[in-house]
Amino acid sequence: MSEPLRIGLLGHGTVGGAFDELVAGRGSAIESAIGRPAEISGVLTTSIGDFDEILAASDVIVELMGGTDTARDHVLSALAAGKPVITANKMLLAQHGAELFEAAERAGVQLRFEAAVAAVVPVIRVVQESFTAVDFTKVSGIVNGTTNFILSEMANTGASYSDVLAKAQELGYAEADPTDDVNGADAAAKMAILARLAFHTPVTLDQVDFEGIESVQPDDLSYAKELGLSLKLLGVAERLPDGITVRVFPCFLYSGHPLSPIEGPFNAVTVEAPEITEVTISGPGAGGLQTAAAVLGDLISVVSGEAQTHSAHNDLPVLSDVSSSFYLHLEVADEPGVLAEVAKILSDSGISVKSVVQRGIDDDARLVMVVHQCPESAFKKATDEIARLESLRSPPRFIRVIEEQFV
Ligand SMILES: NC(=O)c1ccc[n+]([C@@H]2O[C@H](COP(=O)([O-])OP(=O)(O)OC[C@H]3O[C@@H](n4cnc5c(N)ncnc54)[C@H](OP(=O)(O)O)[C@@H]3O)[C@@H](O)[C@H]2O)c1
Repeated sequence: MSEPLRIGLLGHGTVGGAFDELVAGRGSAIESAIGRPAEISGVLTTSIGDFDEILAASDVIVELMGGTDTARDHVLSALAAGKPVITANKMLLAQHGAELFEAAERAGVQLRFEAAVAAVVPVIRVVQESFTAVDFTKVSGIVNGTTNFILSEMANTGASYSDVLAKAQELGYAEADPTDDVNGADAAAKMAILARLAFHTPVTLDQVDFEGIESVQPDDLSYAKELGLSLKLLGVAERLPDGITVRVFPCFLYSGHPLSPIEGPFNAVTVEAPEITEVTISGPGAGGLQTAAAVLGDLISVVSGEAQTHSAHNDLPVLSDVSSSFYLHLEVADEPGVLAEVAKILSDSGISVKSVVQRGIDDDARLVMVVHQCPESAFKKATDEIARLESLRSPPRFIRVIEEQFV
């Protein structure tokens, strides 16, 4: 009988515990995939296990601890010892990816991380293996299930952000401390990883501009419905003539966009390139069992698959002032000429209006419009000017709009 594959498991929480059960429960399927049995040779938590002993007794290390300090040290030690590593840790890769990929290459061992982006949705495999040689132009993703659940619920029920966040926490879709999810940081880490792979350019978390969903109002969602739009927290990594942009922001999509129907805690990623047109994949973006299933897929690839390179040979600049289309929400005095004043400021700034909805009377008068793509700096300047109009009753609110539609 062949010697078992010995797995050193760092972390035994939501994902680590589920992975442990999966290895035990799927033993014969794993054996038939890799040609030998697999066993957990040691477990490290804050209260049990010794890392050096586990490393010495393992053929492969699975890092499911989270955090960026101890996890980085352990992953580097494992790679230096010539042991392949599998991790689900997006923050680790978004902050220390270059160092870790270099260490893996130097040691000639694999570092796999499918579960770090969109959990069980196999987006890393698609970008890095299925479409290795395509010339990606754009990668867009709903890569945070918590915020997608909150925005879907707000749109479907008309409830406020804080009420829906409380419901998400009750249902286990949001952590007790949801900060990194709702402010966009979690999605930004995942987009840094995807941008690196798609554009072969080193991108770290601090180069990703991100905004969260904390200030989205229920009426933005109801006006959006009238304009045929749905609201998502989107990560967008795009190839432009002079470099790339990597951003995360709440934005409206038209119904013809493939990410528009993705509701609830699901994740989805759309990749675009001339050779493939557009491919979208979706599925659960979190959950112990689902994430552990992606880790198990990596384990099998580590043993039976080819090593991939994560080279960042392009080194393109990461740009910040780009063009976007916007939804603009104005609370205005209910008097003649307001629309004309606003339209003049926009037109003087070279910004053209795509659609307008005018609602309400007296103290509840609203002017809601979508403007065509324009430089973000020009739009911000125009809205600063609009904010100074006497007819404005509160500061303008705006949200980006993706005009692209595929059907
Ligand atoms: N949960 C998900 O749905 C999901 C989805 C995708 C990716 N991920 C990623 O998967 C990783 C694990 O997430 P999780 O939800 O399973 O976390 P978790 O439930 O908090 O579990 C973390 C585990 O790591 C151990 N640990 C933490 N710091 C340690 C340290 N310094 N030394 C030794 N052990 C330590 C903990 O020990 P104790 O048991 O002693 O506390 C615990 O067993 C994270 O990188 C996360 O971003 C999670």
